[in-house]
Amino acid sequence: MRLGINIDHVATVREARGGIEPDPVTAAHIAELAGAEAIVSHLREDRRHINDRDVRLLRETIKTRLDLEMAATEEIITIALDIMPDLVTLVPERRQELTTESGLDIIRDRKTIHTAIQRFHKKDIAVSLFLDPVDEYIRLAHEIDADYIEIHTGEYANARTYPEAEEHLGKIRHIAELARSLELGVNAGHGLNYANIKPVAQIPEIEEVSIGHAIVSRAIFTGLERAVRDMAELLYRYSLRDDKIIPED
Ligand code: PXP
Repeated sequence: MRLGINIDHVATVREARGGIEPDPVTAAHIAELAGAEAIVSHLREDRRHINDRDVRLLRETIKTRLDLEMAATEEIITIALDIMPDLVTLVPERRQELTTESGLDIIRDRKTIHTAIQRFHKKDIAVSLFLDPVDEYIRLAHEIDADYIEIHTGEYANARTYPEAEEHLGKIRHIAELARSLELGVNAGHGLNYANIKPVAQIPEIEEVSIGHAIVSRAIFTGLERAVRDMAELLYRYSLRDDKIIPED
């Protein structure tokens, strides 16, 4: 399973003072040196953390892949078509939210999302849809030609008890299988951390996880390189993909 590092929260700290540090682009380079296999960032309409300069510089300088999270609005689609990320992940966006709170409303916004997918496909940009683990959403994603889904793992991450976590994990496993059976690629993210990653890493259908807050939080105490390496090691140890030699526990 690949590790995508979301560097938005480095920009959040920068924006707390409106200056030039810490630079999320530097963070992306350190994350790559430490084992990140993709850099993820969300260019929000309100530019509350990542800005246009960041995504342009990321595109020019990172050596892995750029996964641009974004809402399907005209302004951001135009920027994305110009920047040419390796993957676009469409997410819902609300001004008041602290972070992306739920998956896309693919039933209500089907037409807008489908049109955005078609525009990206014209430029050979793959598109992932951030979705809650609901069968109908995955079937719709397939119908409108998405390349990937990103399973929203927030409810699993927020579970208060083991049975609750197990119930959400069951849904995630089922959705990952369903998506693969429809030949959709499968990513996952939101709220994943060092304590809850193991069962997610063991789901063989998931290709990539996108992790931000937990890693940037740990980086305050351990440094970013160490924080990324710690997560990369956990993924390596727990991942059941055939292409990995699984070290003993
Ligand atoms: N995936 C998506 C679509 C997100 O919006 C976010 C949060 O920006 C993440 C993954 C990463 O979540 P977290 O910061 O909780 O690791």
